[in-house]
Amino acid sequence: MNLLAIESSCDECSAAVLKDGALKSVVISSQLIHSEYGGVVPELASRAHMELIVPVVEESLKKASASKEEIDSVAVTYGPGLAGSLIVGISFAKAFASSRGIPVVGVNHMEGHLYSAFLEDDKPEFPFIALVVSGGHTMLIHVREPFTHDLLGQTRDDAAGEAFDKVAKLLGLGYPGGPVIDKMAKEGDPKAFKFPRAFMDGDSFEFSFSGIKTSVLYLLKELKYDPDKPDEKLVRDICASFQAAVIDVLVAKAINAARKFGVKSIVVAGGVAANRGLRSALQASAEYIGAKAFFPRPLYCTDNAAMIGIAAHFKYLKTGMVTDLTLKPTPNLALSF
Ligand code: KG4
Ligand code: ZN
Repeated sequence: MNLLAIESSCDECSAAVLKDGALKSVVISSQLIHSEYGGVVPELASRAHMELIVPVVEESLKKASASKEEIDSVAVTYGPGLAGSLIVGISFAKAFASSRGIPVVGVNHMEGHLYSAFLEDDKPEFPFIALVVSGGHTMLIHVREPFTHDLLGQTRDDAAGEAFDKVAKLLGLGYPGGPVIDKMAKEGDPKAFKFPRAFMDGDSFEFSFSGIKTSVLYLLKELKYDPDKPDEKLVRDICASFQAAVIDVLVAKAINAARKFGVKSIVVAGGVAANRGLRSALQASAEYIGAKAFFPRPLYCTDNAAMIGIAAHFKYLKTGMVTDLTLKPTPNLALSF
């Protein structure tokens, strides 16, 4: 069965083709226009999706050597995300499906991240602990079987990716902040500054990242830092120290959860899973407790349609596809537990 998957919830316009759950192609068009505004501008994002959606889908079909007639179903993200951006993907998916008389299935964007590790050959085993860390979410989830999961904890304020983005903005490093902080941190001293690590007592699975961001702000004020006159060494040390604080918390909680539930696989997904420091720290800690950490390749960590396709495949195996032309954008769509 050939599935066309579409993702347009934020600033990535993406399409993928999967055959019986195996990825045949994925095309991702990132909207660079937002970088000069320091964050995603919803109106610009939806306009860009309008321009990109047709060429992106056509390219994904071409790369998969599949014609429109060979597609048997369409999967599309229907939330959470920006309403205007979601509307573009959903409208396209419905028009494509209704013109061909094939089913369309709505996928929760977070379920996409949750199952993205299954796009790789080396697949996690159920049950597993999932750490979903993106620009909008930080969640620790116990996935018992496909589409059966319990929320263990989440952030009470900023998401991990949001903290990277806000700190990068304070340092004048542009948007998105994660990749540039990741790069700068590699050459900095992680012990140069001590930033807070929240909720580290006991076995709390809750997170908080706004305190770290505020500490960076106070430090910059104290140092009278002027982003127009960047001090490379200082910036590298702040990046390394900030990143170390975030990683310490993420790793400790993921490992505690794996221990508590006796789980051998830990899956990390979402944009922040692309972070090199997090990847190596969690890999080492997981090995130490006899578990294994699974990270999708960076391309599958940030928003992409391949993960929407694989989540739709799991959904299909569990519930069967449903034709749903009443599908609506749901900007605040939550994961159901
Ligand atoms: O999953 P994603 O593409 O979009 C959302 O659903 O939010 O995640 C984007 C987030 C941004 O906050 C970005 O700064 C962060 O992921 N990110 C990273 C890295 N690459 C992207 N954070 C840390 N290190 C990275 N290498
Ligand atoms: Zn995402």
